[in-house]
Amino acid sequence: MYKFLRPLLFLIDPEKIHAFVFGILRMKSRLPGFTSFLEFLFRFEDHRLKKTLFGLTFKNPVGIAAGFDKDAKLVDVLASLGFGFVEIGTLTPKAQPGNDKPRLFRLPEDQALLNRMGFNNEGVLAAVGRLKRRKSSVIVGGNIGKNKSTPNASAHEDYVYCFNALYQYVDYFVVNVSSPNTPGLRELQEKEPLRRLLQTVKDLSLSKPKAKPVLLKIAPDLSAGQLDDIIEIVKVTRVDGIVATNTTLSREDLLTDPVRLDRMGAGGVSGRPLTKRSAEVIRYLRAGLGGDFPIIGVGGIMSPEDALEKLNAGADLIQLYTGYVYQGPALVKRINQEILKNQ
Ligand SMILES: Cc1cc2nc3c(=O)[nH]c(=O)nc-3n(C[C@H](O)[C@H](O)[C@H](O)COP(=O)(O)O)c2cc1C
Repeated sequence: MYKFLRPLLFLIDPEKIHAFVFGILRMKSRLPGFTSFLEFLFRFEDHRLKKTLFGLTFKNPVGIAAGFDKDAKLVDVLASLGFGFVEIGTLTPKAQPGNDKPRLFRLPEDQALLNRMGFNNEGVLAAVGRLKRRKSSVIVGGNIGKNKSTPNASAHEDYVYCFNALYQYVDYFVVNVSSPNTPGLRELQEKEPLRRLLQTVKDLSLSKPKAKPVLLKIAPDLSAGQLDDIIEIVKVTRVDGIVATNTTLSREDLLTDPVRLDRMGAGGVSGRPLTKRSAEVIRYLRAGLGGDFPIIGVGGIMSPEDALEKLNAGADLIQLYTGYVYQGPALVKRINQEILKNQ
């Protein structure tokens, strides 16, 4: 059905259609029976899909990646759509509008998206207000970042603020230093700033009555040397896991017309062009971190086969964004069925 709907949806500006579909789902979710209807269509449950990682039990290993529901507006609906977990954010302390529009583009020839959203969000407290009212018990991750106006020297204060605000309302945290769309953010991936930031957040978590898992989200564009640094830092700071990967700055091997691509401008590419690279990063991390270290694999999962590739590369859980846009809501069920077949 989505095959027929997609050409129509793709006629409309991607950010507008995202907001429109979001609005409809939010409105309909208040109607009695609507979420049960979604569950009937899209949820696939089997106890063999359950996975326990960093002390949390996930109903299935397929999550929705950060950026899709930045402001926690659709957590219950995403649970009904069959996701095993929902990562909200990236959230920043203060609301911010993000970059000027247009800032999200489709690259259909490449089954990809290009975005330079720039952490547009309504601020962490607005998300907290919504999380307080959520009904489902789906696992929620809080992906946190810094405001554009906050200099890197005081970035840790933004992460601390978001952590404290969300602490009671999410199950795990993701420290995002890998978005290409906030100027200077990726500099926080350098060895010393990253070690300090992760230590701060991890210590904060340990100071709470119940520590919550702290994960790091990394870019796919890191060299082997930089990945080695990450492996070392993760061990030293004892963070609980890695989310690999964010979008790529690379424009290599794209099929999209270079002139059109040039006109789109800066941003991170997601979807099919990322499939191979993010699996490579996961494989590298798995080799360096050993068998037990939690890794969430994300990047270019467009099919059940891509999902299996990520799991075989060493991911414990997986997340989707662009594949969901291109393949539609049935993809989650199809992936879970395939995982079960291959167990
Ligand atoms: C429009 C858009 C917005 C995104 N926003 C965020 C974000 O706020 N924080 C984040 O950590 N990742 C963000 N991402 C990255 C995704 O979470 C994911 O890491 C990336 O898109 C690769 O997965 P995919 O190929 O399945 O899309 C965004 C991606 C897209 C396409």
